[in-house]
Amino acid sequence: MNLDEQARDILRKNDKGGYTLPTHGLYPYQWNWDSAFAAWGFTTFDPDRGWTELETLLSGQWNDGMVPHILFHRPDPGYFPGPDVWQGRGPIASSGISQPPVAASFMAKMLAMDPAGEARARAMWPKLHAWHRWFMQWRLDEGAVCVTHPWEAGRDNAPDWDGAMKAINADDVGEYTRRDTSHVDPAMRPTKYDYDRYLKLVQIGASVNWDQAKLRAINPFRVADPTMTFTLLRAQRDMVDMGRRFGEDVSEIEDWIKVLEAGAETLWNPDIQGYDSRGVHAGTFNGVLSNASALCWYAGLNDARALPAIRRMIDAATYALASFDPEAEGFEPLRYWRGPTWPIMNYLVGSGMEEQGIDALGARIKSDTALLMQQNGFAEYYNPHDGTPAGGGTFTWTAAVWLGWAGRNLEDKRGAA
Ligand code: GLC
Repeated sequence: MNLDEQARDILRKNDKGGYTLPTHGLYPYQWNWDSAFAAWGFTTFDPDRGWTELETLLSGQWNDGMVPHILFHRPDPGYFPGPDVWQGRGPIASSGISQPPVAASFMAKMLAMDPAGEARARAMWPKLHAWHRWFMQWRLDEGAVCVTHPWEAGRDNAPDWDGAMKAINADDVGEYTRRDTSHVDPAMRPTKYDYDRYLKLVQIGASVNWDQAKLRAINPFRVADPTMTFTLLRAQRDMVDMGRRFGEDVSEIEDWIKVLEAGAETLWNPDIQGYDSRGVHAGTFNGVLSNASALCWYAGLNDARALPAIRRMIDAATYALASFDPEAEGFEPLRYWRGPTWPIMNYLVGSGMEEQGIDALGARIKSDTALLMQQNGFAEYYNPHDGTPAGGGTFTWTAAVWLGWAGRNLEDKRGAA
């Protein structure tokens, strides 16, 4: 099988009928931003299935507009923490937090690939609008979008959260059995210290029934995050374009874009010459240069200030773009979001650069992404120094990135950047 066929095969095999698993075993449910990537991947060969994926995701939307980060369609004992721990209150059993809102941006791409899906996109537009409003209502700090749990950013154990995690007392979290470390080498997963705190934050949210006003008052964890801020900013721009086409009033969204642009600026940390996360309770930057710092181009901000540090990060590894600065203390090339290269982030960053005319660097990120998959298959993430595949295998969103981007119009641009 060639790589296109292998990638399509992964999507089909992870398809549970209406939704797609990130990978069998490790992630046995529907994850929010994975699903948006899956929808786009399917659209390259089966648009109808692509639209269905997004519709299923939005069918889990809560009354308050939130679209959960996990939908537990069918119970699976192989995953912890499950629906009984989260106690979500939506129409489908779910977690109580959200994830980076990339769905609208993928919907815009899908509409361009399959204009016949317009009626389905039009029906989803108001739901996405309500979800984005929920972020604007509950998650802003000085215009930047905050996460209330490390998993909300999709970068679960990134060093960004270390400061805020220290402030959490998890002594009373109780006994529990992790499942992730029975699927994957513990050295590639978050530590027990982290996991205790992840769970404690779930318990805190469930204790107030995920009431956002109450949660805001008691949650010890609130971090303004570049992943969220940049993906939402991009999504709002795509919503304006689609909304105009559908004859919707987009003035409110245009105002939100201004708020988010100002918010993005509050994440610029001159000390690291990059966009950084900010602890809201501590009132300080975290000093973390990550792959999320490089999402500014994707957000439509063509910021020359941000280029040198990202270029240095790319030069410091073999395969762009490490999830954490390879030259920073605490970099771990195989531990999840503390070093490995993630194809999905490479797509967001690299395609954003291509759109903004940062051609050589965008092409470098794209060809490195393709190389990783050609040499090492469709893994969850890879060691940025030697390309070792890590985490889960036969991964849905990695396959989608191949089909939608990395495997298209391939030229070897290594060295040109
Ligand atoms: C991990 C990742 C998260 C992803 C999920 C499913 O939790 O950190 O971003 O959505 O796995 O793939």
